[in-house]
Order: sequence, then structure tokens, then C-alpha cells
Amino acid sequence: MDNIIEVKNVTKVFRETKALDCVSLQFERGKIHGVIGRNGSGKTVLLKCICGFMTPTSGEVLVNGKKVKPAKAQDNMGIIIETPGFIGGKSGIKNLCYLAALSGKYDKSIAERAMRTVGLDSQSKKPVRKYSLGMRQRLGIAQAIIKDPDLLLLDEPMNGLDNRGVEDMRALFAELREQGKTILLASHSNEDIHMLCDTVVELDNGTIIARIEEEINR
Ligand SMILES: Nc1ncnc2c1ncn2[C@@H]1O[C@H](COP(=O)(O)OP(=O)(O)OP(=O)(O)O)[C@@H](O)[C@H]1O
Ligand SMILES: [Mg+2]
Repeated sequence: MDNIIEVKNVTKVFRETKALDCVSLQFERGKIHGVIGRNGSGKTVLLKCICGFMTPTSGEVLVNGKKVKPAKAQDNMGIIIETPGFIGGKSGIKNLCYLAALSGKYDKSIAERAMRTVGLDSQSKKPVRKYSLGMRQRLGIAQAIIKDPDLLLLDEPMNGLDNRGVEDMRALFAELREQGKTILLASHSNEDIHMLCDTVVELDNGTIIARIEEEINR
């Protein structure tokens, strides 16, 4: 099996909390993997350990067979974790161009395409501080896909989207899977999980309490 992510015995301890307790998981390439669990179960911490935003207290994470190094810009990974920080006074397209420039790949036409993909008007001069929650969320997804990464880590990406937005994003994620991308999707929405995910892992108190491996969608 071709695993893009391997989480090996990962424990993450904060002063008073064990957020992850010896978690081992593999995620196969080219699929949509759901991560579920109640508030505080460890979903976001797991995603942060996978992208290098957090260093595990013990254990390791391999992405494409390579150990994830903390705080290093990850090539080939698109991330939306919590609300992405945008510059409120600038337009959506300017924000995307800044973010693209930060990672060394600057190309306005690519930023415009990412905006169109998520259903935002790339020509709009509206500053991001005047965006609705759903528009912000769409811009966050545009930011995650702008570099055409093989792996997307999406933490509650449907937050704030209306029904149409949720449908659009489901179609987008399914299309990205068709293109061979891998998506990790942390969500509270049973419907998103059932409609989109090929595998599901459930966390509780930092441990895996259920793992559904069967092909839910195909
Ligand atoms: N930076 C931090 N410092 C201290 N404790 C933290 C930190 N980040 C997370 N935790 C703790 O780790 C545990 C897991 O948190 P996490 O954010 O991963 O939960 P979650 O499953 O994403 O929850 P939610 O569904 O609310 O998003 C919680 O008890 C949380 O308080
Ligand atoms: Mg979370």
C-alpha cells in the first residue's frame, strides 16, 4: 500500500493534557481520510503534528517517507488549520499573492485560478475584513490549493459555508481526489464524512477509538 503519511507512536503532552497518546496511523495516497471526534479529542493537534506546526513529545511522523521537520515550510502540502490569517485591509487576490510570494512561488494567474476554483471573484477589490465567514473560508481553501499540493490537511474546512458552499467544496474535494491528491479532513459533520471519506478514524482523549477502513464511497 502506498502510504503518503505515517504517524508512528506519536504522543503530544502539554503541561496538563495528553493531547495524543501513542497514536499510530497510516494514510493511503489518493484518498480522502476523515478524522472525527468530540471537541478536544486531539484532531487539530494530530494535523499540526503532521504538518510540522507542532513537534510530537515522542514518536514521529513521516510524509512521503521523510520525517516531518518542525516549523519548516512544507512543500507539497496545503493546509487550512483554524482560521487562516489574512491581511484584513487587502483584497482576496492580494492576500493570495502575498502568501504565494512568501513560499517562493509567485504567480498572479495561479492565484486568480485558485480564487475562481473556490467560487470567489478574483477581480474584486473588496478587502478581506469585509468578507463574510464563508468567503473567508473559501479564501482559506484557495490558499491551501494555490501551490497544487499533493496533500491537503483541512481542519473543519466547511465552517461557515452555506449549503451551496458545502456542496461546491464537496465537489472540489472529490475532484482533487480524482486528480490523485490526498486529503485529511477533520470534521464534525457526519454528512461530509459519509459523503466524502474513504476511511475514517475516530479520536477520543488522544487515542484512536475506531477506524473504518472500508471503501465507503466507491
Ligand atoms: N497549544 C496548546 N497548549 C495546551 N493544550 C493544548 C494546546 N493545543 C491543544 N491543546 C489541548 O489538547 C487537547 C486536544 O486539542 P485539539 O485542538 O487537538 O482538539 P480537537 O479534537 O481539534 O477539538 P475541536 O473539535 O474542538 O476542534 C485539548 O485538551 C486541548 O486543550
Ligand atoms: Mg480542532
